[in-house]
Amino acid sequence: MSQEIDLSGRAAMVTGAGSGIGRRTAHVLAEAGASVACTDVNAASAQETATAIQEAGGQAISVAHDVVDEAQWAAAVKATTDAFGNLRIMVNNAGIELVKTIDQISTADFRRVMDINVLGVFLGIQACADVMHESGGGSIINLSSVAGLIGAPRQAAYCASKGAVRLMTKATALELAGSGRKVRVNSVHPGIIETPMMNDLIMGVPEDQREARIAQMHARHPIGRLGQPTDIANAILFLASDMSDFMTGSEVVVDGGMTAN
Ligand SMILES: NC(=O)c1ccc[n+]([C@@H]2O[C@H](COP(=O)([O-])OP(=O)(O)OC[C@H]3O[C@@H](n4cnc5c(N)ncnc54)[C@H](O)[C@@H]3O)[C@@H](O)[C@H]2O)c1
Repeated sequence: MSQEIDLSGRAAMVTGAGSGIGRRTAHVLAEAGASVACTDVNAASAQETATAIQEAGGQAISVAHDVVDEAQWAAAVKATTDAFGNLRIMVNNAGIELVKTIDQISTADFRRVMDINVLGVFLGIQACADVMHESGGGSIINLSSVAGLIGAPRQAAYCASKGAVRLMTKATALELAGSGRKVRVNSVHPGIIETPMMNDLIMGVPEDQREARIAQMHARHPIGRLGQPTDIANAILFLASDMSDFMTGSEVVVDGGMTAN
């Protein structure tokens, strides 16, 4: 028996919703009926996502929001509940990549990656867990990466941050379930997904090596292609819905088989 996912009557927040995976996730959640707060440090891009959702007949607002700023978290959650009430879905998606050797990574670089990718997710969980519980329960989805499961050269800071997201997800899932709060927490681990983040990585490679680098990226995915934002948004949709009601503390790997061997 098939079951449609219906999120109508539920509000969702998506951080980093102005680009790539976050933007596509905001659309997919809205298409399933959720009212979506599209937040991003880049206010104009968040607004573009919200406008596109509205034009497609969905419900959305945009919020200018730096995930590293605790006060802005409180304001973003308030803006969402003021607009839609009933906060039930939180997608901690905002993140940055850093490709540098151990010798090149400065303390400031390392701190910035940890601030946005780890502290930003923690503040999100802290800001919304009780609100979601009081709304009747909810689902928090944290974007980790294959880089939270396996190492990669020139990605020490990024791998450290995504590994931290993986275990913070499990720790908070246990704590919330154990304290009787009806809030599930799961992590998603994408392979290489064609987004502006990935394009930036390719542009960072010398021009004469780009084609080889792209071929190398393809070869890492046994399924024969790179991922698309929709591949990740669909997994997030499932985790946001009641179809995943028995899942908490899980790591959902969406990587075309990259980490299977
Ligand atoms: N693209 C990939 O191959 C890939 C693979 C694995 C995991 N991921 C993860 O998925 C998430 C989304 O990646 P993407 O590829 O869509 O990236 P992207 O660069 O296309 O989009 C990231 C968005 O986050 C926003 N952002 C950055 N810093 C912020 C901050 N401090 N506060 C609020 N917003 C901020 C940016 O403005 C941007 O809109 C990230 O957490 C990334 O690490 C991506």
